Amino acid sequence: MNGLPRWIVYSIIVLVTLSWIPLALALRARTVRSAKPPLHVVTDMDNQPSYRTQKRNMMFADRRAMRPQVSGTVARGQLISSDALAFGKEGDDWVTAFPLPVDQVLLERGRERFSIYCSPCHGHSGYGDGAVAKRADTLQEGTWTPPSSFHTDLIRSRPVGHIYNSITHGIRNMPAYGPQISVEDRWAVVAYVKALQRSQFAGVDDVPSDLRASLR
Ligand code: HEC
Repeated sequence: MNGLPRWIVYSIIVLVTLSWIPLALALRARTVRSAKPPLHVVTDMDNQPSYRTQKRNMMFADRRAMRPQVSGTVARGQLISSDALAFGKEGDDWVTAFPLPVDQVLLERGRERFSIYCSPCHGHSGYGDGAVAKRADTLQEGTWTPPSSFHTDLIRSRPVGHIYNSITHGIRNMPAYGPQISVEDRWAVVAYVKALQRSQFAGVDDVPSDLRASLR
């Protein structure tokens, strides 16, 4: 060190000491928790401006940020190959058999969707006594059409394709639920409606023979 002037030696010491600061800061950032977002120098495409639901976007003539499906197009994975599945019809007739396999998973899904979309009017057991229907009854405004009970002879005799169609397009005073419930989910709801109907008109024959003895 004897050959170097003092100011150079001091400068080197200061610089080496300073060079530890970024490292120390990085180490601190990695170990100490903070509620603030991390420093993000090169953002790549991690943060991008986006629209919230139901907001305006002045770029489009109708000002809607949420773009409707382009008419005449089919999104990937949404192509439905059979009329029975898509419309509940074969030719001019309502289908009477389910166009997809009915299993426990489908029924569970149907029960869930039914509770969300149908039970407010039709009630959890399908007698047309949901919370909305009861409230409308007490209001007595004279404008309310009571939701149908599923347990009349007429509705029990409806083919599954007909019930599917009622969900898709609505029927008389009932609104359409096609725009809110997907095709598979609509069939799941139909399966659940059928199960509800069966549950209210079950006979001894519906009980497996080995369990009949346990009936009271
Ligand atoms: C906002 C209340 C409301 C909701 C929610 C509702 N319905 Fe209805 N539904 C009605 C009314 C009202 C009628 C009777 C319409 C009429 O007679 O004008 C009806 C009738 C029906 C019928 C009988 C149609 C026929 O064949 O005569 C079926 C089946 C049915 N609804 C199924 C459903 C299913 C399944 C859902 C859930 C996806 C659902 N409804 C959701 C109000 C509702």
